[in-house]
Amino acid sequence: IEHNTIPGYTYGQPLSKSPISIEELLLLKKTVLFSEDDERLLRLAGDVLADQTKAVLDVWYGFVGSHPHLIRYFGQHEQLDAHYLAAVRKRFGQWIIDTCTRPYDEVWLAYQQEIALRHHLTKKNRTDEAKAEPIIHLRYILAFIVPLTLTIKDFLAAKGHNADIVSGMHAAWFKAVTLTAVLWSHPYSNPEEF
Ligand code: HEM
Repeated sequence: IEHNTIPGYTYGQPLSKSPISIEELLLLKKTVLFSEDDERLLRLAGDVLADQTKAVLDVWYGFVGSHPHLIRYFGQHEQLDAHYLAAVRKRFGQWIIDTCTRPYDEVWLAYQQEIALRHHLTKKNRTDEAKAEPIIHLRYILAFIVPLTLTIKDFLAAKGHNADIVSGMHAAWFKAVTLTAVLWSHPYSNPEEF
């Protein structure tokens, strides 16, 4: 996979270590019922979604673009910033594949923290020199688990897998997105309360 052609995508580059340890990650995985089966099903989901990321992003961006309370995070004066949107879109597409195919190790954890900071006051707008809300409010990060999960199902079903496999991939995706949102909430919490 070609990663380094995506502006601002710094997966695997020297980043600060995640404040979450591998041991803590393992306990979180247990808590969201994430098993080796899920890992396998996610990898299959990665194959299924690989040539559909554009269509998935059209749905997600359509969702954001039809809600003024979300548009403000991607622009100013109720206008989406086209440059910002396009830049984030490339990394978002890569994230879909990364979520399905990358090992959830220290490198992955470090990039989760980086993306978390990019939603938080710490780093939002910096990567793309954008002018928009300076923070994605935590409540929407958590609420996004629902649209990001429910809207993926049709795409998972699009390659003719049987209903059980599709449900399995969908559950694995739900767990992965929930795990992600949990990790991304770290900058918003007092570390001892996380
Ligand atoms: C950036 C996913 C919630 C708006 C990103 C990126 C990903 C992503 C993958 C690009 C990361 C990178 O730079 O490599 C998600 C997921 C969410 C979530 C999985 C929830 C579970 C939200 C919400 C909003 C939002 C609620 C508000 C509309 C943005 C914006 C950026 C971004 C504006 C660019 C941030 C920057 O300036 O660097 N998101 N997102 N995201 N997301 Fe989210």
